[in-house]
Amino acid sequence: MSRFRPDMAERARALVALYPEPRSALIPLCHLAQEQDGWLQPDAMEEIAELVGVTPAEVRGTASFYDMLHTGPVGRYLVSICTNIACLLGGAEELLAHAQATLGIRPGGTTADGMVTLEDAECLADCDRTPCVTVNHRYVGGLTPQAFDQLVDDLRAGRRADDIPPHGTLVRVRRNGGLRADRGRVAAERAAMAEAQAVRAREAKEQAEREAALQSGPGAGSGS
Ligand code: FES
Repeated sequence: MSRFRPDMAERARALVALYPEPRSALIPLCHLAQEQDGWLQPDAMEEIAELVGVTPAEVRGTASFYDMLHTGPVGRYLVSICTNIACLLGGAEELLAHAQATLGIRPGGTTADGMVTLEDAECLADCDRTPCVTVNHRYVGGLTPQAFDQLVDDLRAGRRADDIPPHGTLVRVRRNGGLRADRGRVAAERAAMAEAQAVRAREAKEQAEREAALQSGPGAGSGS
């Protein structure tokens, strides 16, 4: 029995069907599981492995490589504070210290109510609004300590639910077309590519043989 909810299981099947190779759906399926549970639970990784024909270790190995995929519990809101150079100059260290003190957690920790996980992040690519903060990968601007407290209050009260969905939700508008690959065309392109590689290999071999024959032929190495 699937550990995905019925609607999610349906989306999972649709995702796998988009690609010529099932394993191409691995990362989209990880995001799907994260959308359902907030993080990638072990049994979800096992089911994803089954769906795309890889091992659970390969799913975990892939997921643990990417910052946006979490293999451990995450609060409803992942609050990331950039402490890279531009933000550092803009007060990121002070803001992070303030966040730790008011939330009562260190980076990587989650508040006791399960609402907020705090992250000390590398550059978030919003360097002109420092110190840059994102919540569930949505920009919320450069924040003062007071604005940060207001943000946390709003998140806890559900006042930002319209623009910041729970952790794991990548998009709320679903694509229903335009992604599906034409399997026949992919197979034809692969066959053409393999044929071109074989021709190149054959030509390289023939060239090497001609050069070897020249070097070992009459007069080779005589210097005349
Ligand atoms: S340095 Fe903070 S967003 Fe780039």
